[in-house]
Amino acid sequence: MKIVVLSLAAVVLPAALAREHMNEIKIMEGHKKRSHIVSPLPHTYLVEDDIPDNWNWDDVDGKSYLTKHLNQHIPHYCGSCWAHGAVSALQDRIKIARKGEGHDINLSIQYILNCGGETAGSCHGGYHTGVYELIQQTGFIPFDTCQPYLACSAESTEGFCPHIDTTCSAVNTCRTCGGFSDSGGECVELDYFPNATVAEYGEIGGGIFDMFEDPAKRAHKIKAEIYARGPVATTINADPLRDYAGGILDDETASTDTNHIVSITGFGRDPDTKQEYWIIRNSWGEYWGEMGFARIAAGKNMMGIEDHVAWVTPGTFTVENVPCSEDGEFCGGEIQNHGQTPSLMKFVGQTYVDPSVAFMAAKEAKFSLRTKLGAEYILETIRG
Ligand SMILES: *[C@@H]1O[C@H](CO)[C@@H](O)[C@H](O)[C@H]1NC(C)=O
Ligand SMILES: *[C@@H]1O[C@H](CO)[C@@H](O)[C@H](O)[C@H]1NC(C)=O
Repeated sequence: MKIVVLSLAAVVLPAALAREHMNEIKIMEGHKKRSHIVSPLPHTYLVEDDIPDNWNWDDVDGKSYLTKHLNQHIPHYCGSCWAHGAVSALQDRIKIARKGEGHDINLSIQYILNCGGETAGSCHGGYHTGVYELIQQTGFIPFDTCQPYLACSAESTEGFCPHIDTTCSAVNTCRTCGGFSDSGGECVELDYFPNATVAEYGEIGGGIFDMFEDPAKRAHKIKAEIYARGPVATTINADPLRDYAGGILDDETASTDTNHIVSITGFGRDPDTKQEYWIIRNSWGEYWGEMGFARIAAGKNMMGIEDHVAWVTPGTFTVENVPCSEDGEFCGGEIQNHGQTPSLMKFVGQTYVDPSVAFMAAKEAKFSLRTKLGAEYILETIRG
């Protein structure tokens, strides 16, 4: 009887519901270096008791450390979820490093689309760690105020994409347009611009033997990474997300085959049911989900969410510029030598310090305190 009802339901299901999400995950041929790890990973110095049940970067004692919500699908469709998830996590971590002070730094996803075709991806799919390799390779990602999102990459024929040039060039890295073209104005590149860099990146899961890893251990690694350093980017099966209507998504029948990338911005435990969940931020605008977020059951690789979790740490990010003229001709009084080797330009950057440095120092202090107390105890015992 049940089978009959099910097949009947399948017949009357509208075509839109049956439609599969386009696979936006694609590892480009030029993405060779899947990780660059120097500092100890958070799960190696944090034990389960160090991590709270609930941690949400959108609400740390009432303050949000997340950067703005994004929408990859406007002004027209572009399969750039991977760039949105990866860049959002990076700029959140810069915000965390700045203790939430000042204007948020918003980074250029369009630059990734313009220049990341070989390594990172396009409107037809890409990969989170490819974004981090690209930024490390080229040495920067510009702020988005000199290369805003257009939802186009070179191969896209969607919307106005065939009419604009999104190939990788200096003017498609960072530009200014100093006047109307019919009065002699033109768009030119800037040699110097506020930017951010990548120090380290890697992936939790994804290794050859990782499929045999205990799910609880995996969840601990992900939680430690989020708690110590900030949001991460992850692959996920987006099919159950399409019609997500709020609450904790826990569908045992959902496939773990992934086709989408989002960021994980926190985790929690339902006070009544005790169910653990991840808080994800999508790039489909705030009209979707719970104001752009969704909660997904944690610790059981729901929809493949724990299979390929990418993390990144920033290197430097610009906090002070040298003023450039609006038409891009002079920067700090120096004439720009477009395309030539840049001369000295004194933009000031802030350098990120990995939290492991502070954790290790605190641990060492505790340890030496303990040995000191131990020595005192021994001395007293001897004297006594
Ligand atoms: C980044 O975006 C946020 C949200 O729109 C905005 O408040 C902030 O001023 C932007 N930052 C810069 C440097 O433009
Ligand atoms: C990027 O910013 C740093 C300072 O944060 C600066 O030294 C460097 O010149 C900038 N790079 C470009 C290409 O403008």
